[in-house]
Amino acid sequence: MENGESLRLKLLIVDDEPGMREGAARCLRNLSFKETDFPEKITFDIYMAETGQAALKEISENSPDIVLLDYKLPDMNGLEVLQNCDSSGFLTIVITAFASLDVAITATRKGAFDFLAKPFSPDELREAVKKAAKNIFMSRKVRQLQEEKSRIRFEFVSVLAHELKSPLAAIEGYLHLIDERVKGDELASYDSMIKRSVDRIASMRKLINDILDLTRLESGKKKRLIEKIDPGETALYVYEGLALKAQERKIKFELLYPEKFAFGADRGEMETLFSNLLSNAVKYNREGGEIKLKIEKKGDFMEISCSDTGIGISREDQKRLFGEFVRIKNEHTRNIEGSGLGLSILKKLASLYGGEIKVSSEYGKGSIFIVTLKEQAAAVQNASAA
Ligand SMILES: Nc1ncnc2c1ncn2[C@@H]1O[C@H](COP(=O)(O)OP(=O)(O)O)[C@@H](O)[C@H]1O
Ligand SMILES: [Mg+2]
Repeated sequence: MENGESLRLKLLIVDDEPGMREGAARCLRNLSFKETDFPEKITFDIYMAETGQAALKEISENSPDIVLLDYKLPDMNGLEVLQNCDSSGFLTIVITAFASLDVAITATRKGAFDFLAKPFSPDELREAVKKAAKNIFMSRKVRQLQEEKSRIRFEFVSVLAHELKSPLAAIEGYLHLIDERVKGDELASYDSMIKRSVDRIASMRKLINDILDLTRLESGKKKRLIEKIDPGETALYVYEGLALKAQERKIKFELLYPEKFAFGADRGEMETLFSNLLSNAVKYNREGGEIKLKIEKKGDFMEISCSDTGIGISREDQKRLFGEFVRIKNEHTRNIEGSGLGLSILKKLASLYGGEIKVSSEYGKGSIFIVTLKEQAAAVQNASAA
C-alpha cells in the first residue's frame, strides 16, 4: 500500500465442504477492484483450511487479513476458532448454514465483521469480501496518517529542543566565565559577554513566541475576534516597532496604500503577519536598502506585497523557505538571529484566510513576498450597522 500502487490482501477460506471451498476460491481468486475513492487496486491471495485446527495453523503461520469462516466445522465451531487465536489481526466473515440470529449475536460479540447465510450467491460473497477489504484499506490509511502525524510531531519537538539548547549552552558558558572572573575584577570587561547573553535570551523569547503563534494557529482553538481593521494603519503600527533597527542601518520604508479600506480580520493575526513580513525585510536587507509595502483591496481579497532590496534568496532555497525551522545559511545570514518559523507562520495565516503566500526573489538583489487574504465575516454581526 505504501507505494500507492496496489494492495494485496491474504484471504483464508475455512470450510469442511470441498465444493464450498473451491467455489468460494474460484469466485474470489480473480476478484480485484478499484474504486474512485481508492487509488490502489485491491487483489487477493487465497489460502484454505478444512478444519478448525487447520484454520488455527493457517492463522498463526500466514496471518490472513480476512477470514471466511464456516460456523460448523468438524472439530470445533467457528466461534471456538476465534476464541483460540488472536483475531485482532483480521476481519472475520462468519458463514452460517441458515440465518441464525443467535450465532450472529454471539459472533458479533466475539468480534466478527460480517455474516453470510448459506446459500449465498457469488455476488453476495464478493460484496461481503469487498466490504471487508475496504474496511481494512481505510483503517490502514488512518493508521498511516496517525504515524505520519506523530513522526512530524517528534521531528518538530526534536528541532525545537535543539534550538533551545544551543542558546542555553552559550549563556551557561558565559556565566561560568564570569563566575570564574576570567577577565579579572573589572565589571566592564564582561560587557560583551553580558550583551551576547542578553541577545541570546531575546532570540529564545522570540522563538518561544513564534512557537506559541504557530501552535495557536494549528490548534484552531485560539479565540479569534474578527473586526473591521484598517490594514494600512496596522502595518504602520507594526513598523514602528521595527523602525529603530531599520534606521540604524539606514533602511528606508515606504507604505503604498493607494486607497484606504476596512478589512474583516483578527487584529492580532494581522499584526503577526505584518511583523513577520517586515522583520524579514529589515533583517535580510542591506545597509541603506529599501522596503516597499503595498496593500490593496482586490474584490474579497486583500493583497499585501512586501519588497526589499536585500540579500535575496536563490531559486533552490525558495522551494524550502516556508518549512518549519528553515533558515538559509550563507555568508549574509551568518550573524542574523531567527527561529526559522516566521514564514511557516505566514503560510498558515494565509491559508487560514483562504489565501496564499508567494515569493519571487533574486539572490543578491532582493525579494518580494506577496500574501493574499480573503476577508473574514464577523462572527457576531452588528445589526444596527447595516
Ligand atoms: N526578505 C527576505 N530576504 C532574504 N531572505 C529571507 C527573507 N525572508 C526570509 N528569508 C530567509 O528565509 C529564512 C526563513 O525566514 P523566517 O521563517 O522568517 O525565519 P527567521 O527570520 O526567523 O530566520 C530566513 O532565515 C532567511 O534565510
Ligand atoms: Mg523571520
